[in-house]
Order: sequence, then C-alpha cells, then structure tokens
Amino acid sequence: MPTTEQLTLDEKAVLLTGRDFWSTAPIERVGVPSIVLTDGPHGVRLQDGSPDHLGLHDSRPATCFPPAVAVGSSWNPDVAARVGSAVGRQCRALGVHVALGPGVNIKRSPLCGRNFEYYSEDPLLTGALAAAHVRGQQAHGVGASVKHFAANNQETERMRVSADVDERTLREIYFPAFEHVVTEARPATVMCSYNRVNGIHASENRWLLTDVLREQWGFTGTVVSDWGAVRDPVAAVRAGLDLQMPGTGGVGARRIVDAVEAGELDESVVDTAVERLLALTELADTSGGEVDFDADHALARELAAECAVLLKNDDDTLPLAVDARIAVIGEFARTPRFQGGGSSHINATRVDAALDAIRELATEEVEFAPGFTADGSGDAGAMRDDAVAVARRTDVAVVFAGLAEADESEGFDRDGISLPETQIGLIRAVAAVAPRTVVVLSNGGVVSLEPWHDDVDAVLEGFLLGEAGGGALADLLFGVANPSGRLAETIPVRLADTASYVNFPGEQGHVRYGEGVMVGYRWHESVGLPARYPFGYGLSYTTFDVGALCVDVLGEDTARVSVTVTNTGSRAGSHVVQVYVSTSAGPVRRPRRELRGFAKLRLEAGESRTVTIDLNRRAFAFWDVERDGWSVAPGEYAVQVCENAASVTLSQAVTLRGDDVLDALTMESTVEQWFTHPVVGPTLLAEFADRADASERAPDMLRMVGSMPMRTVVGMLGDAAPVTKLEQMMELSRREADRRISPA
Ligand code: BGC
Repeated sequence: MPTTEQLTLDEKAVLLTGRDFWSTAPIERVGVPSIVLTDGPHGVRLQDGSPDHLGLHDSRPATCFPPAVAVGSSWNPDVAARVGSAVGRQCRALGVHVALGPGVNIKRSPLCGRNFEYYSEDPLLTGALAAAHVRGQQAHGVGASVKHFAANNQETERMRVSADVDERTLREIYFPAFEHVVTEARPATVMCSYNRVNGIHASENRWLLTDVLREQWGFTGTVVSDWGAVRDPVAAVRAGLDLQMPGTGGVGARRIVDAVEAGELDESVVDTAVERLLALTELADTSGGEVDFDADHALARELAAECAVLLKNDDDTLPLAVDARIAVIGEFARTPRFQGGGSSHINATRVDAALDAIRELATEEVEFAPGFTADGSGDAGAMRDDAVAVARRTDVAVVFAGLAEADESEGFDRDGISLPETQIGLIRAVAAVAPRTVVVLSNGGVVSLEPWHDDVDAVLEGFLLGEAGGGALADLLFGVANPSGRLAETIPVRLADTASYVNFPGEQGHVRYGEGVMVGYRWHESVGLPARYPFGYGLSYTTFDVGALCVDVLGEDTARVSVTVTNTGSRAGSHVVQVYVSTSAGPVRRPRRELRGFAKLRLEAGESRTVTIDLNRRAFAFWDVERDGWSVAPGEYAVQVCENAASVTLSQAVTLRGDDVLDALTMESTVEQWFTHPVVGPTLLAEFADRADASERAPDMLRMVGSMPMRTVVGMLGDAAPVTKLEQMMELSRREADRRISPA
C-alpha cells in the first residue's frame, strides 16, 4: 500500500471524494486501486447503466434475501449471518468491495418509511443481528457500511432535520447498536446520516464521528458519507469524515486543496483520512467466485421461514391440512410484496408467489380470487363479492393483505398505520362467510390489526420476506416449517399510543425526541399501555416450558442467567428465551424492563436444553450525564425471563454492589445533599439537634429548604454564615469522594 508521502495534495484530495456514483478514485501512478461500493444489505444492487440512490433505475439481478424487518423478527443472529455471508459471496463475484449496510437505526415510530430496512425498536436485538450480518459479509472480504450514523429515524426532512436528542437517550437507545457492531464486528466503514444531530449535520459532527466513534468506541475504519450528505467537504474532513460520496466531479477535492493551501485545513488532517482510505482500498484484492442463484434462492426461502411471526391461531386453525378445501384471496398471494422501495431495492433473480407454492403443497384444488388490486384501482365491490363467493365454498380462506410498495419507501414517512379500507372490508366480508379465516400480512412498517383482528381465526405476519417469501409462507401455512419469529417491534392498538406520537416527525426543522429512552415497549410497559401484540410476541405450532431459572451475580456487577427450556409439544420448533432487567435503582427513571439478553433454541419434540446467557455490566447500567459515563446504581434488580416484553414467566431478584461513587459537596449542592451526606450529614444533624428549638421543626424545615443550593442559604445568612466550617466540610467530602471507587 502506498503511503501519504508518495501522494501529492491533489491526489490525496481526489481520494477523499468518490470518482463517480459508486466507486472511489484510483491513483494509478502509485498503484492505488478504485473500489466499488454499492447498496445492500439484503442483496446486491449493482448498477451498470444510469446510477441512482433511490432504487429508480435497473441493477443487475441478485438474490433478494429477507430485508432487515424480517431478519429482526427471526431473533436469530445466525439468520443475519447467513444473509450477510450470501450477500458477501455475491458481492465478491460481482466485483463489489463494500455493500452499504446494514441499517441499524432504531424504529422510533411505526411511521418511518424506512422501517423495513431496520431491525427493531430495541438496540440490543438490533446490534446482535447487525454484528452477525457484518461478520458474515466481511468473512468474504467484502466491507460493510453500518448506517445511518446517527439518529436517522425518519424520512421526513431527512436531509435537513435536526434530531434533538438528550445524551442519555442517544447512549442508551440510538447508539448501542452502532457501538456493538463497531466494537464486536469491526465493520470496514460506517456511513454518516444526512440529518443534523442536536443542530450539527452528522457529516460535520466531530463529537459524533471522532469523539464517540473513534476515540470512545475505537473505530479504525473509514467513515463514508451518505449519498449527498456532505455540504462542506472541509468541515466534514475536519470532523472525521473520510470519504464523500458520490463523486462531485472534482468540486469536493478542489475545496479541500484550496483549504489546505489557504492554511484553513491542516494537511495532517487530510493525511489521516487518506491513510484510512488507502487501508480501505485493500478490499480491492478480494473479487471473484461464482454465484449459485438456485442455491441462494433456496437459502432465501429457508431463512424467510424463520422470520414470519404467528400472531394468532385460534383452535389450531394453522397449520392447514394439505387436503383442506382452501381459498386463497388477495392480490399479494399472486403478486408478492416482498421488499421495500428506495436504495435497497434489489432486482430479484426470481420471485415465488405464495399462491403457486400453496398449490404445489395442497392435494386439493385451491381456488383464488384477487379481492383487491395493489394500487387500489378497479371495482372494489365486485372483487370483494367474487372473493366472498369463493370463500363461502371452502373450509378455510387465506387472505393475503398488506401494504403496496407505493405505500412505504425510503424518502417519505407514512401518515397512518391502517391497512387500506378496501382490504379491511374484504377481510371482514370473507371472515363473515368462511368457516375459518387466516390473514397473512405483507408490510414493511407495522400495520394496525384493528378493527378486523377479532373477526379472523389466525394471523401470520410475514412483513417483507424477500424473493422466496411466497414459498416460505406456504411452508409455514402447511406446517412444513414451524413459525418461530417474534415481534421485533410493538404492534400498537392505536398509532396515538406510540411513544413518539406527539413529536414525530417534528416541525420547523427540528424533531424533539421528547419520549427520551421510552421507545417502543419501554414506553408501553412503563406507562401500562397494552399493545395489540407486544415486542417479543410470537406463537409456534408446538409448546414450550421454561423453568429452573438461576441467576448468579458475578464480579463487577455482571451476572449469569440459566434456564431450561423443554419442547412439550409434538413437533420440532424454536423458542426464544428473552431476558429482561427491571429496576428502579439509581437517580434516573428507568424503563419498566429492558431486553438484556436472548437466545433462540431449536428443540425436537420432547427435547429439553439448558441455556446460559451472560449479562454484562452494561445490562444494569444507565448513562449518567453527571459522570459522562455508564453507572451501575447499587440496589435491587429483577432479572426476568419473559415470554415477551409484557409477560414475565420467571423472575429472580439480585442485589448489585454498583458503583461506589459519591460527589464531593460544593456550594451548589443542595441542603438535602449536605444533610444526607454520609460523612458530613451526621455532623450537621448533630449541630441541629443541639439547638432544641430548631430540632423540633427540623423535618419540616429540611423538607422546605432541602432543594435550596447551600450558596443560597449562605447568601441569606449573610455574616452569620459559618463559611469556614462549611469549607472544612467540603474538604472532608472531597476526601471521601476520592476514597470511593470511581466507575469503570
Ligand atoms: C441512502 C443510503 C444508501 C445511499 C446509496 C442514500 O439515499 O440513505 O442508505 O446507501 O443512498 O444508495
């Protein structure tokens, strides 16, 4: 690899902005190759013709694997790893060096148009899946680009809006997935987002790109801009951005050269970015190999079957008998909805329709009626009547409903979560006549199940399952595969029940994350607001027993959890052990419970296995703004093994020593802090007790003046204030603070 000394300033600047839409500039004179970056993450979007970052123009055929919304519901890092690995293999064969993904933004609102590209409303689940994807992909020598850093949780005004988020919320909710991937999977690149974070564009945000990402998390890779996110290339390089994409026809490079020559930008800053870029170009060595699209299609089907979530199954309506009289209703059975719109849009090699796959598995004739058109055109009444007539003559009607591709996409947010009215009418009309009704849903963002949920017997939420999703759905409907997905996001009863409702998507250039850390189930559980289906929910065709919980507290506020899971039903299936921590310890309001560990176990009928899940210190910690770091508060914590976020199966209380920290007293400390200080407090109380008149009224007085800073009290006392005594006490408290252990 050449060094920066071998390059001229012009060449260095050229390296820091793309050559064109999808590649970096080569410097042939010294043998620096160009590398190709293109979209993923659930497939390769390699364009030969006109380029675009909105999925408008063609790209080469590639396998469309289940998008992140589906992988999120698998709760299985192995599924994410296998998607990543297959994408890595295809990238390598197609000559792509960096696949842009995975997206690890948190689903703050069900309305975000890009939720299908994100895994979950929970940072731990998101981070675990994304890290597995990155490892799987990078094992083939193809770099990942974890995106969009940071707080890019909506599409409305995504290029300009300022996400106004307090630091604890960033650290506890919006950062951890990035942090986990960076520290555990070492992605080649991180992509900064378009938006501003607390007023400063992510691409120019030094705190974000350098202080947090590099200095605190140890990221050593390349920071790439989202496509078109750089406004000021000089400010961007200064903040820690390395590669501006796409190319700007030399404009960006010229700005950098001019700034160095004018003495406004230190050349050493340019050199640092260039060094990282040169390291990235080493990925150019890894190209080649073959792709077996048939094998990858089969893989896409297998993985998709792990992702769908069985929400309702009254009277064991599912699985269907192969010889049942089945009516398939709904255009999406024939024309699948399987991926989202925008830059991640894959030109699938082939697409399985559920209708065909059902017909292949059924032994009797399967009738079909479209029931509606995806774009809402046509005579809805006539289509519904046809569907009802078909449903009437069968044992079970399977209605494929959902959102059309035009309803949700990168670039805009939705304004509601209902299914289209025609589909709601269709489901209810079919359910009124069919002996049994199953609804299969295809949607990227969460849809409301109101008001039809109680009319139907079963609901299978498929989200978007990729090109082989139709086959996977048929496998699940007939029990060839046993549903094992769990919701990675809450399905609310009403949109208005969601935490960000009053703040989303903001106004006048700002979106205030007013709900703080109370995102998704954290909000529903904390305020006792039931969801239609909670985070973590999902049924199976078999049953499980979970027992023998044992929680051992280990050193340094960590713990080891073990539980035994038994498949008590008659067929093989998978169960997701979900471990949450619940506490009110510490000075900040904690969510009612938070997911801190999980494991998916596949068990044969009758099989029993014990699983161990380690909880690290972070599982108990909160971001302490006063210490600018993570603190574990001493106190009681409940470690809960849950069926889902709303249902605790087993719980064990543990006591943690926590961080033994105590701030020194200052004149800004309150009277209450002074009086309750473990060293100084007793002396003060004793003095008080000596004064009989005051001591009688002490409790009331303390209550009233407790929140006053000592400075105010001293000011009021004037010359009578015992200033020297207070100073001595402050010194005592300083010594006590030093004596205690500071947090790690
Ligand atoms: C998207 C990115 C994508 C890039 C390149 C942007 O509009 O936000 O996720 O990787 O385009 O297509």
